This record gives sequence, structure tokens and C-alpha cells, in this order.
Amino acid sequence: MERIQSAIQKAREARQDQTDIVSAAQSSAPRVPEMDHKSEASVADAVNQRWSELDNIRLSSHQLQKARIVAVEANSQAASFDVLRTRMLHQMNANNWRRVAIASAGAACGKTTLCLNLAFGLARQRSIKVLVIDLDMRRPTIGKLLQPEMDNNFADALEGRSAPEAHLICYEQRLAFATNTKPVANSAELLQDKDAAHVIDDMEARYQPDVMLFDTPPMLACDDTIAFLDQIDCVMLVAAAESTTAEEITKCQREISARSNLMGVVLNKCRYLEKTDSYGY
Ligand SMILES: Nc1ncnc2c1ncn2[C@@H]1O[C@H](COP(=O)(O)OP(=O)(O)O)[C@@H](O)[C@H]1O
Ligand SMILES: [Mg+2]
Repeated sequence: MERIQSAIQKAREARQDQTDIVSAAQSSAPRVPEMDHKSEASVADAVNQRWSELDNIRLSSHQLQKARIVAVEANSQAASFDVLRTRMLHQMNANNWRRVAIASAGAACGKTTLCLNLAFGLARQRSIKVLVIDLDMRRPTIGKLLQPEMDNNFADALEGRSAPEAHLICYEQRLAFATNTKPVANSAELLQDKDAAHVIDDMEARYQPDVMLFDTPPMLACDDTIAFLDQIDCVMLVAAAESTTAEEITKCQREISARSNLMGVVLNKCRYLEKTDSYGY
């Protein structure tokens, strides 16, 4: 177990090294501070340019309502997602985490809904760039929810058959979604593939998102999420009230703690809330 933990730590550090290449180069012994400042600005310009070249999403209020996405703008419905977003950011900053998987034991707990609301809530903070990757490749839904007419298959990029940019859609140049239209049969094998990991590392380096959110399939129904745990920094576990059992949560916690970090458990679909929990809304 110790050997696994140290291998995971090494992989994580290697990832960190790769994405920090530019900033490390800039921060080490600046001989000509003015040049450094300029190159930092030009790197930021190049990153912004890449974001600006992505295809834009056209959000329709009908589509948002249908998908239960309420956090595009600040309002009372977005309040609980915003609290979660802020707590999440605190934990991420404190631990230097960037990659978050949204996971659950079973299906229909609300992972995708939570992931999208968190993403839009994060993107309301103008200084934050967010990359959302739909790794529920057996039942991809993010593309369908956001832009049903779009035909994107990010899995092709993971397999090295096309550029990731071809499968990204973007909102306000700071929130991008890597989506799939077609289900993928060999998703667990794909997620364990070193080349697929490199594709994700490369996207992280090119787009330099502050937060990467990974929407995942049910942990106890297939091995996709477990296969990918080494690649992420932490997991937000979603439990559905009246459906997810304590035993299922314990099983997931065990898997997550062995290979990554459990950020917390979100109880979703509660029909009954204390008045104080909803702050009177
Ligand atoms: N808090 C909630 N209250 C009511 N319905 C919800 C809530 N969260 C999600 N849903 C609905 O539950 C269904 C499953 O949600 P989804 O996010 O697709 O789950 P998962 O990604 O875990 O399979 C969807 O129809 C979604 O709109
Ligand atoms: Mg889902």
C-alpha cells in the first residue's frame, strides 16, 4: 500500500512539474526582471488566445432550466452551489489541488448537475478559468445538456485521433467543456492509457485552468472512476438522499482514500431541509 501511495505521489508531482514548467522557468533567478515580466505576459496572452479560439456555447434558458443549471447567474437558487464552490476553492488552495472528480456510488445521484452548477458558479469569478471534462463516457450527458446539436467526441482526442480543441465548447472564454456525443465501450481501458493521461496533461498545460472538474460514471457500477483516481487530486462524492446507502458511501470512501483525497460528501436531492440550511430561500 505504501508503495502505491508513493507512486501516486510521484505521478502527481510529475504532473505538477509539467504544468509548472513555464511559471518555474519564470520564477527561477530572474536576471532581467523586465524580460521576465514580458515573457510572463506573453505566456498569459498565448493562453488567453487559445481560450478565445474555442467554439462558443449558445446557452438557452430553456435548455438550462431543463438541465437544472441554476448557477449561471447569482441568485437565490445558486446560493447552495456557491457555498460549495467557495468551500471547494478554500480546500483546493490550501492543498494546491487543481483536479477534482465529481463521483458517486450509483447512477442518477446528481453528479452531472452538480458538476455543471459548480462550473458555472466558479466561472462567475472572473479571475478563474475552469475546464470541465466529461469522463462518463458510457453515458455522456454534458454535451447533450448544454448543446444538443453539437457533435463532439473528446474520447477521440484521448485516443490520439484528433485534437482536443475540436471537442471543446466554451463559455465567456473562461469555462470550457470537453464533451462526448457517442458512448464509448472501452472507457475504463482508455482512462488507464498513458497516452490519454498525456492528452489531459497537455490540455492542462495549454489552457492553464485554475480548476479542472471531471464528471465521472458511478463508482460501484464500473471501474472507470477507480482507473482514473491516480490522475486527480481530490474527489467530491455525491450521495442521493433516500437512495445512496451508508455502506455504499463507505465503499467509495475506501477506494478514494487509497488512491486520492476525499474532499467531502455532498448530500443531494434532499426533500426536507432545515430552515437554517436554506437561509430562508
Ligand atoms: N438536487 C436535485 N433535485 C432534484 N433533481 C435533481 C437534483 N440533482 C439532480 N437532479 C436530477 O436527477 C437526474 C439525475 O441527475 P444527474 O446529474 O444526471 O445524475 P448523475 O450524473 O449522477 O447520473 C436528472 O434528471 C437531474 O435533473
Ligand atoms: Mg452524469
